[in-house]
Amino acid sequence: MFVSLQRAAGARVSTTQSRCASLWTSSGRQFNSTPLVFGSAATGAGGAQGSRASSSTTQTESDQVTVSSRRLEDFIKAELSFYSQKQSATFTLDDIVQAATPAKVAKLVHEELPVSYAGRIHQIEKLPHFEGYPELAELHRIYSESFRELRMADPEQLDSFSEMLGRLRTRHKFVVPTLSMALQSIFKASFLNEESQRELDEWANAFMLGRCSTEMLTSHYSASASCDPAQICTGIVDTVCDPAQICVLAAETVREKLAIETLTIDVEKPAETIQFSCIPKYLRYILEELLQNAARATIENYPPEELVTRPIKVTVCADSRRVAIRISDKGGGITHGAADKIWSYLYSTKPKPLDRGLWSGSPLAGWGMGMPLTRLYARYLGGNFEIMNMPGIGVDSYLFLSRIDPGENMAAKSDAEND
Ligand SMILES: Nc1ncnc2c1ncn2[C@@H]1O[C@H](COP(=O)(O)OP(=O)(O)OP(=O)(O)O)[C@@H](O)[C@H]1O
Ligand SMILES: [Mg+2]
Repeated sequence: MFVSLQRAAGARVSTTQSRCASLWTSSGRQFNSTPLVFGSAATGAGGAQGSRASSSTTQTESDQVTVSSRRLEDFIKAELSFYSQKQSATFTLDDIVQAATPAKVAKLVHEELPVSYAGRIHQIEKLPHFEGYPELAELHRIYSESFRELRMADPEQLDSFSEMLGRLRTRHKFVVPTLSMALQSIFKASFLNEESQRELDEWANAFMLGRCSTEMLTSHYSASASCDPAQICTGIVDTVCDPAQICVLAAETVREKLAIETLTIDVEKPAETIQFSCIPKYLRYILEELLQNAARATIENYPPEELVTRPIKVTVCADSRRVAIRISDKGGGITHGAADKIWSYLYSTKPKPLDRGLWSGSPLAGWGMGMPLTRLYARYLGGNFEIMNMPGIGVDSYLFLSRIDPGENMAAKSDAEND
């Protein structure tokens, strides 16, 4: 039978001696070579960290199973293999809003992240000679360590679970640039033909889709955990998001970053304020990325004195089903040779990717994967993203986002629960 380490180890790792403290270090690496004791039905502090405080006092001998750390590694490996066979769930905005208490999100995180991480570890291992690429080996290490920590954690112990997720989010901070560097290394080293490039792009897209989904979930957990319990909490989702306002904020950020007086970004707001359910953080990332692309093309192709005649225009509108945002620039458009490559994770005209130290924190921009990631995030948010390229003139980017109202569903659900 398959051993659930979450129940056995996560809930009840304990030792019969006081050496437990040495098992939990500040680096988040939990185990040394000491034998561990697992119990399945003990009372008292749950979770591995909880057991540090409680030591052996709350468990009876009959609840406990002792395994060596080597055996534990075997369990983890077996779990990894088991989880990598599972199908990762995809979440809609609605699913995310439905789980907006820390306890519900913790449960979701604890169920879904190991499946998704195991899938990505498996994906890395499928790449030939992955150990030979330091960035791939680093990604493999990051995901393996997080998988292990998640399987050892108890989602019912919210304090220690939050700490564990904090460590996990810090560990995963540079996954996108590391992936970008890994792809560049493979691309340069392997002389890939068209077919292999397409396969590598599909691989990267699947990897990033998993990353997008789990990043949103852990971010949702942080937002839910810091909600005021007296208020209705929707975590990272804003149920009354004004897309025009997000466009204005994104335009300000890009303008400030570029600091070029003569380049203007005009946001045309609709006559009536639009409100819809959306994750504003990600909408803003998308808009900043598109505005940066538009600004970069305009600045690079035209002299400063001409920029005033080439404003970037943002238009926002909506009907009952969707919100549409168009960004139009007159930066000269995408060159013929580049047009079919812009959706590739392997292609960028940037001389070199951004330095990590200069990174703004956006998962989309800076690593030469802005266009494919924008499309991926737009789709993930229940929308779509298209561009119309006018060679020699400019680019019109269209972002469409579906309107859903999770608030209504939530109300209906809570009515049903109260019936
Ligand atoms: N509005 C635009 N006008 C002209 N060319 C564009 C425009 N948007 C994208 N491109 C072209 O598509 C390429 C790919 O864009 P993408 O956003 O994926 O990467 P990047 O902007 O080079 O890097 P990053 O987004 O990571 O900062 C760009 O390098 C540029 O040549
Ligand atoms: Mg870009």
